[in-house]
Amino acid sequence: MDVHPDKLDITITFAQSLDGKLAGPDGAQIALSCSESMQITHRLRSTNNAILVGANTAINDNPQLNTRLLPTEEQRNPQPVVLDTNLRLPPGCKLVQNFVAGKGLQPWLLTPGSDDLDWHHRRRVLENAGARIMIYNPNSTSHVDSIPSILSTLSFNGVSSLMVEGGPSVIQSFFTAHNKYGSIIDRIIITVAPMFVGEDGVGYNLPRSDGKPAFIHKDSFLAGKDAIMVLEPTSA
Ligand SMILES: NC(=O)c1ccc[n+]([C@@H]2O[C@H](COP(=O)([O-])OP(=O)(O)OC[C@H]3O[C@@H](n4cnc5c(N)ncnc54)[C@H](OP(=O)(O)O)[C@@H]3O)[C@@H](O)[C@H]2O)c1
Repeated sequence: MDVHPDKLDITITFAQSLDGKLAGPDGAQIALSCSESMQITHRLRSTNNAILVGANTAINDNPQLNTRLLPTEEQRNPQPVVLDTNLRLPPGCKLVQNFVAGKGLQPWLLTPGSDDLDWHHRRRVLENAGARIMIYNPNSTSHVDSIPSILSTLSFNGVSSLMVEGGPSVIQSFFTAHNKYGSIIDRIIITVAPMFVGEDGVGYNLPRSDGKPAFIHKDSFLAGKDAIMVLEPTSA
């Protein structure tokens, strides 16, 4: 299944160390961004209508995925989306709690579904807690393969601009997923923090380029101690 890139504007954004790591050993959360670059991330969130993270990020970091660092009149929260095949998200997480308290949008958990009875039990618990479970086409054979179905589901449900915030596994999937139009990514915004994590940190790899750059520089600027770089696919 192909998703035409014009249907969904996709921004990949993450913070990395100088040695290209997004997380610590075994995917543990590490503080990379300074307060100035965090504020830019929140502004970027306010300009997209959905924000997507992987299940591990949602579980490890317990993020709110909102725009609370902006002045009240500029806060506009994107639709939170978690890729959670096995419905591992704890029902007591901040995303669900914020929704129940009227402080956030209802979190969408995207999954290909399952025949497993425990999975159906977790579905009921999460739905009763307040999450919305959304099933995408289950015929994909890998995480990368599932990206077009995930994008179609989001597009069908009214999402036109998507910010993908991590973690490394999800970013890797989006880098690798291509359709007949080329890269599905419209831009990458990377916050580079002036620190090293070390080889036991978790990074990402780009697909083979055969000598041609897949993304080219569009802009770069400083935010506090961090450097922010904007890249676009060469075909853009
Ligand atoms: N530096 C940054 O900007 C940044 C940003 C975000 C997170 N992080 C860090 O990254 C760490 C977690 O990273 P991670 O790589 O372990 O996990 P992740 O990318 O947050 O989540 C990966 C999990 O998402 C699920 N998933 C479902 N569909 C997927 C798809 N199409 N592609 C990839 N994954 C899919 C899989 O679990 P199931 O199969 O169970 O669904 C997979 O194991 C966190 O601790 C966080 O601190 C850093």
